[in-house]
Amino acid sequence: MTTTTLVRYVWDDRIKVGLPLIDNQHRELIEAINDLAEAIEGNQGSTAVKKLIAFLKGYAEWHFDQEENCAFRHQCPLAETNQKAHVRFLEMLAQWHREYTESGASEEQARKIHTALGEWLVDHIYKIDTNLAKEIQAQPSA
Ligand SMILES: [Fe+2]
Repeated sequence: MTTTTLVRYVWDDRIKVGLPLIDNQHRELIEAINDLAEAIEGNQGSTAVKKLIAFLKGYAEWHFDQEENCAFRHQCPLAETNQKAHVRFLEMLAQWHREYTESGASEEQARKIHTALGEWLVDHIYKIDTNLAKEIQAQPSA
């Protein structure tokens, strides 16, 4: 089987939202997704991969909560869209985690999860979070 190198995601200006707390949490998430790539490519084994996926689940949940509370507090028009996207994502992530664990934790599956996580996150930050942050920053109290 030929395996391609997994993408390393980069936090840069394109996905900077301008709110330090949220930007730092996004950096952490991207770093954890890159750690997952390291674990897969470094053959650290399925236990390490499972731990990283579990960490990502927990961290994403905590981060989404923070972001959603902030958005609702500022009555952002995008708050609900953002929350719905988070819920769908957490459902997907839980399903991938289950499938990975139940299907024998193959490297192929870990690779798919890594790519899906990275692509979703970057796309979500770019399309929703950056606009959400603009709404927050437009508030007089922000
Ligand atoms: Fe978000």
